[in-house]
Amino acid sequence: MDKQIYVADIAAEEGKQVTLRGWLYGKRSGGKLHFLQVRDGTGVIQAVVSKKDVPPEAFAAAEGAHQESSLEVSGTIVKDTRSALGFEMHVSDLRLLQGEAGYPIQPKEHGIGFLMEQRHLWLRSARQRAILSVRHSLIKNIRDYFDERGFTLVDSPILTPTACEGTSTLFEVPYFDLGKAYLTQSGQLYGEAAAMAVGKAYVFGPTFRAEKSKTRRHLTEFWMVEPEVAFMDLEGDMALAEDFLVEIVGRTLAKHRHELTTVLERDVTALERVQKPFPRITYTEAVEAIQKAGHPITWGDDFGGDEETVLCKQYDRPVMVHRYPTDLKAFYFKRDPNDPKVALGVDVLAPEGFGEIIGGGQREDDYATLASRIDEQKLPREAFNWYLDLRKYGSVPHSGFGLGVERTLGWICGLPHVRESIPFPRLMERLTP
Ligand code: 4AD
Ligand code: MG
Repeated sequence: MDKQIYVADIAAEEGKQVTLRGWLYGKRSGGKLHFLQVRDGTGVIQAVVSKKDVPPEAFAAAEGAHQESSLEVSGTIVKDTRSALGFEMHVSDLRLLQGEAGYPIQPKEHGIGFLMEQRHLWLRSARQRAILSVRHSLIKNIRDYFDERGFTLVDSPILTPTACEGTSTLFEVPYFDLGKAYLTQSGQLYGEAAAMAVGKAYVFGPTFRAEKSKTRRHLTEFWMVEPEVAFMDLEGDMALAEDFLVEIVGRTLAKHRHELTTVLERDVTALERVQKPFPRITYTEAVEAIQKAGHPITWGDDFGGDEETVLCKQYDRPVMVHRYPTDLKAFYFKRDPNDPKVALGVDVLAPEGFGEIIGGGQREDDYATLASRIDEQKLPREAFNWYLDLRKYGSVPHSGFGLGVERTLGWICGLPHVRESIPFPRLMERLTP
């Protein structure tokens, strides 16, 4: 095939004769004219097919092209101030490559169940393409943030011998003669080992939770980025989380203002407010605020989606809730030396009701305390010996957090459900396509 020319770069082709390859997004036809909306993954261009300008087979091909048929159009690129692109093609030839009639997704309202079933095709819609590209940028901005600050990306395993975030949400996998493995819930424990090697590490990969939750915030497979830093306490962790969010939201907004406002109809003023400082409140203060808002909750209860929604709606930017009851938190959290009933952990809740996007905190760095926490939570000590080693050979205070990519993207794009923020969502009741 000759050099591929893309719609995104079409301005450079003005006045030239070029060939574009793509799919038929839409079509309007008059007697002697077809207006084809051709998309190539980088943009959509109108290709005008006039009976007098093309061979009869080409005109017939345009007539017979169906929605999402693949095709090749050749013609001259001309300025067109009426179109969003600013250019259109005056077609001189057209070749239909492939495409049956009956593309399942029509320009009308489809139910979400149907669209999810057609996810492999639904990705071609303008809205889904916008979400895919914002996701791509968000991930790049996350990586750039850490890369520019001297962090080293360290990959953690997906098949693991133990639980990191409680034993109730583990996916089991048979593992040869060794019995069972589990799909990782979080790379944190490996991130801690990495931080002791490189100082500032981050783990970034897919994580799994066999969570029996059918909420708009839960996936069974999601992507998490987890920075981990040696010689950092909870205060430093909160400062990092705050700075990180301001940067990644700001950069993503700067790049995708157009998609966010026009395609996704997001109110971007809500994102512009993501500036320092974020309010910081204790769990205890949060409980009082939730109670004041008329929601029944007592000290010691975990926040469900409803409590998070009530709380984060009271702020115009992300809120950091720190020092949760120790009993609610995983074994690795360090307890507050001033009040051991609470752990040195922080959750960051996104505004507008989007809820928790970050969870993290300072890690227990004392060998004996950590060992007894592992025993108290009835976790198999042998499997954690390597993790305990980190507290034996040069233990230092250290902290980190995990940010869920899909929840963060859902918030940035203003999506009502997290299922649209990952190309092929895995939910309790969905494993296909
Ligand atoms: O709060 P979580 O469970 O924290 C951890 O896993 C820590 N080990 C992270 C760390 O300190 N390194 O999860 C972190 C984030 C949540 O705030 C949320 O954004 C996302 O991961 N998350 C989910 N996203 C989608 N579906 C689920 N089922 C999620 N569970 C957690
Ligand atoms: Mg959490």
